[in-house]
Amino acid sequence: MNKKNIVVLFGGQSSEHEISCISAATIMKNIDEDKYNIYPVGITKEGNWRLYNGKTEDLSKDKWVKDSVKAIISPDATDKALIIFKDKGIEKLDVHIVFPALHGLYGEDGSVQGLLELAGIPYVGCGILASSVSMDKLFTKVIVDRLGIRQAKYVSVYKKEMDEIKEVVAKIESQLDYPVFVKPSNAGSSKGITKAHNRGELFDGLELAIKHDSKLLIEETIIGREIECAILGNHHPRTSNVGEIISAAEFYDYDSKYNDKGSKTIINPDLPRPIVKKIREYASDIFSAVDGRGLARADFFIEEKSGEVVFNEINTLPGFTSISMYPMLWEDKGMSNKELVNRLIEFAYNK
Ligand SMILES: Nc1ncnc2c1ncn2[C@@H]1O[C@H](COP(=O)(O)OP(=O)(O)OP(=O)(O)O)[C@@H](O)[C@H]1O
Ligand SMILES: [Mg+2]
Repeated sequence: MNKKNIVVLFGGQSSEHEISCISAATIMKNIDEDKYNIYPVGITKEGNWRLYNGKTEDLSKDKWVKDSVKAIISPDATDKALIIFKDKGIEKLDVHIVFPALHGLYGEDGSVQGLLELAGIPYVGCGILASSVSMDKLFTKVIVDRLGIRQAKYVSVYKKEMDEIKEVVAKIESQLDYPVFVKPSNAGSSKGITKAHNRGELFDGLELAIKHDSKLLIEETIIGREIECAILGNHHPRTSNVGEIISAAEFYDYDSKYNDKGSKTIINPDLPRPIVKKIREYASDIFSAVDGRGLARADFFIEEKSGEVVFNEINTLPGFTSISMYPMLWEDKGMSNKELVNRLIEFAYNK
């Protein structure tokens, strides 16, 4: 059998660059090497594309750039190739499939997906629209509102309104009680998110969030448990059981997610079966509503006082590190990381 060439994109220009390097290493270790030649292509924080020639184990150490040469995916659909810049000129390498192991901006938001559509190369995961809608918290809200699934009450704020920040604060206070969550609509991994307990913190939170995006979302605080569900497939997606996030910090921010040893994840937490069933149904419905493909992780709250399921967000390229919920939820279903990665690749061919 002729081996195919797979490019695994990693790094990227987002705040989740480091996480992506770890995710990519996990993914590469699990690609079937009898079927594929693996070509890791890293994107630096500055946006420089490099074909990495070193060991997978060293990928997360941020030294990969020195073992690499410039290489870009051609947007020309007649190429379907990686253009590698060598000392003596350029070389074209056929690319049969791409696994964009990128999180956040320019990776999970439809940008890279747009390039791959232009290039005419099959790729793992969601397309342009599903990626961008799911990355943008405000647009996700609008889609999910149509499904009648409960979400935190919210107020949207556009950059132009920020000229009159006092009016913005008045608008928020007329609709929501403190504490509120202030979020850039499009950022990822809790960057720019704060919890404001009073007017002063709300002013500060708005000023911070607007540095990350031109659209903001202010939400009521949901007090309850945080539950996540994994989705796999295309038009008839499968859902996993659920996992719970126990955050060591006041909320599950970037630090508590990746640096705080006190945060933990529990697979199959103690929950009534009808609640788990509802979460799985919602996860599948939301994935279909955004026109998802391949994979996603949908995140919910179970509100303490009402016991209701409240949708929080959907991630179309969930983390794939050893502490990531997505692969753990499938392991719980008896699917090894190898099987999972290879299924994801298969789904890319049959979108
Ligand atoms: N409305 C809310 N009520 C209570 N807690 C919230 C609310 N919104 C966010 N949080 C807390 O803040 C955390 C981060 O918020 P959110 O998941 O919306 O953004 P994100 O982490 O940037 O996105 P990603 O998960 O893609 O990195 C959540 O995991 C949760 O702990
Ligand atoms: Mg989140």
